[in-house]
Amino acid sequence: MIKKYLSNQLVRPTGLVGKHLIGRLWNRHNRALNESTFVHLHALNNDRILEVGFGGGYLLKKIFSVVSAGAVAGVDVSPIMVEQARKKLRKHIDSGVLHLHQSAAEHLPFSAACFDKACSVNSIFYWTDLTAGLIEVYRVLRINGFFVLTFTGKADLNKRGFSNPGIRTYANEEVLAALRQAGFRYITIEQAQDAHRTFAMVKAVK
Ligand SMILES: C[S@@+](CC[C@H](N)C(=O)[O-])C[C@H]1O[C@@H](n2cnc3c(N)ncnc32)[C@H](O)[C@@H]1O
Repeated sequence: MIKKYLSNQLVRPTGLVGKHLIGRLWNRHNRALNESTFVHLHALNNDRILEVGFGGGYLLKKIFSVVSAGAVAGVDVSPIMVEQARKKLRKHIDSGVLHLHQSAAEHLPFSAACFDKACSVNSIFYWTDLTAGLIEVYRVLRINGFFVLTFTGKADLNKRGFSNPGIRTYANEEVLAALRQAGFRYITIEQAQDAHRTFAMVKAVK
């Protein structure tokens, strides 16, 4: 029962637990994935960078510590995550560098080709349609812009009983195929490990 409750919170954070715990839990538990993603992004001062599914905001903070003359945008489908991030990051929003939106990967609220780089960490499991989300990321990147997509491996997730009707786990090959279908090229994949799991970092170019 507790497992089911927690699993539902991960899909759709609600109430006080959703507000005060889930984002912090993700920030801590996914730290290595976010740190590696940040390294692979090679963020520059004047970049325009999008993060999809920012959760507790760990990676967003790292990105705008570098990007002061460009723009950083984050989308997350969860109203609670967006509300919490807006509170925590108010000064960066007010300074005009950070833009947060409550929306889904599958319907990004941006015009075509407006980002240099995009990233997403451990979010694809919850997307309702992986390929539709990747097509959207592709659309909003400029030509030669790139996407860093990081996710925990299917075997690890299955071992931990990470299952819920709102969650879908992916083998690396399925993600690579969906990226190709969305139009990405020069796709490379690296595997890494932290104390909790094996994860994949994929880099794909528009
Ligand atoms: C496991 S958390 C990861 C958060 C953060 N990226 C991290 O690594 O700590 C997944 C995040 O993706 C968001 N999410 C789920 N489905 C989404 C979708 N379709 N579009 C955008 N964000 C989504 C969730 O609300 C949640 O904040």
